[in-house]
Amino acid sequence: MEKRGGRLGKQRKDEYVNHLLNFQQKGGHEDLRFLDRLLTMAMIEARSCERFKRLSEGLQDEYLRKFYRRFMESEAGHYKLFIELAEHYIDKEIVRKRWAEWLEAETLIMQQLSVRGDRIH
Ligand SMILES: [Fe+2]
Repeated sequence: MEKRGGRLGKQRKDEYVNHLLNFQQKGGHEDLRFLDRLLTMAMIEARSCERFKRLSEGLQDEYLRKFYRRFMESEAGHYKLFIELAEHYIDKEIVRKRWAEWLEAETLIMQQLSVRGDRIH
């Protein structure tokens, strides 16, 4: 990062993640709260994967293109892992149904967020 003239900025609140956390079930059965925590992570990993894919595809710099491509592959693996963990501990049909609800909720979240140049979320 330094070699390329970049510097780490201050850590900031992540609105997107906070919205996802708000969607998590607060009460109810422990298994379903556990499922929501796994699906939150799956969602974050899946979207990171997509962002790194777009980044890697749009770069002329060969080194950075491969760099972000490797991140994309890594994030895809993380997404898969969280879904597999969910399906290992919770009935697959319940996981699938709740994942669909997460995708709907995320659509609404995304409609509330503004596009900003200082973040990749
Ligand atoms: Fe990850």
